Amino acid sequence: MNAPQPVTEAKAQRIPAPVGVLAELTYRCPLACPYCSNPTDVDIRAKELDTEDWKRVFSEAAELGILHAHLSGGEPLARRDLVEIVAHCAKVGLYTNLITSGVGLTRDYMQRLSEAGLDHVQLSLQDAEAESADRIGGYEGGFKRKMDVVKWIHEFGLPLTVNAVIHRANIERAGRMVAFAVELGARRVEIAHTQYYAWALTNRKALMPTRAQIEKAVAEVEGLREVYAGKIVIDHVIPDYFATYPKACMGGWGKRTLNVTPRGKVLPCHAAETIPGLEFWSVTDHSLSDIWYKSPAFNAYRGTDWMAEPCRSCPRKEVDYGGCRCQALALTGDARNADPICHLSPEHDKVEEIAASFDGSEGEIPPYVYRRYKTPAPVA
Ligand code: SF4
Ligand code: FES
Repeated sequence: MNAPQPVTEAKAQRIPAPVGVLAELTYRCPLACPYCSNPTDVDIRAKELDTEDWKRVFSEAAELGILHAHLSGGEPLARRDLVEIVAHCAKVGLYTNLITSGVGLTRDYMQRLSEAGLDHVQLSLQDAEAESADRIGGYEGGFKRKMDVVKWIHEFGLPLTVNAVIHRANIERAGRMVAFAVELGARRVEIAHTQYYAWALTNRKALMPTRAQIEKAVAEVEGLREVYAGKIVIDHVIPDYFATYPKACMGGWGKRTLNVTPRGKVLPCHAAETIPGLEFWSVTDHSLSDIWYKSPAFNAYRGTDWMAEPCRSCPRKEVDYGGCRCQALALTGDARNADPICHLSPEHDKVEEIAASFDGSEGEIPPYVYRRYKTPAPVA
């Protein structure tokens, strides 16, 4: 379906180097959040890249010009070799950001990570209230453990970002979450309204708030920028279905970042495998450099040449790059179409229908389909 042109050396030289790599070290995780962006159908017992593979990947990332290594999952703490991986990233000059639920961390392990050269911790928070947070994460006692982790993060002098995904169960506390992040001593807080793919798509009915709730929460969080100016940086990802223009998903396909899955497949975004016909290369067969510059998947939607109308002649085409390919596929059946979030898309009515179908549906939240896989995760 997609037939990317072969990449000549001259063309490859015009492609900018990526700035970040999201390393999904494992899909294993003790939590079971119903909005998890991991695939819904993986065998999480399948063999992950080993320590030496990951070290090679990070060496190649540094050679490629990448600055930031985001160590993610699943829960990266489920890897026994995390300290060794962090130390290697530090050795090759990568800035390391640990994206974690905090569950499973001890003070001793935090100290070892810090001594290995960890630069930053991004801690997920399911809610500002313990009971609700534990229910959302499907893990009793998780909130309390996170509070201990916050203490250790500060004890070892690491900068903290708090990351909160917003949905129906916590949207009334979106503003409270910002205040709570300030109380926890975070320098940055990411308030991200749920993006509906993977597990979040399965749970869309239970997760999607009403339009009134969203408008109130968005206004509240935006209003807090002034209140907390100079105290905390607020990253605010507003919900797609109620927007006029789409976001430049991933900052543009193959433009800024790449994702490496636990088994070594390299993806332009975490949902790219939902797009049929794309050929993804693996770090087990190719260098990261070849994958970035030459692989078919990265070149399929890079830049603007692939675009159809209305994007092709739109003045915003280098602002949002036509939005999200995965969402375009999911809602219009073709990843080359404009993301239908865009009000200029001929299929924007589908988004309006979805948004309208959830409007006004306050009240009891249907039970979650928690992120659990048929094969239980091995104990780390
Ligand atoms: Fe973006 Fe395409 Fe919409 Fe223009 S028409 S704003 S490029 S999605
Ligand atoms: Fe794949 Fe947006 S999630 S391009």
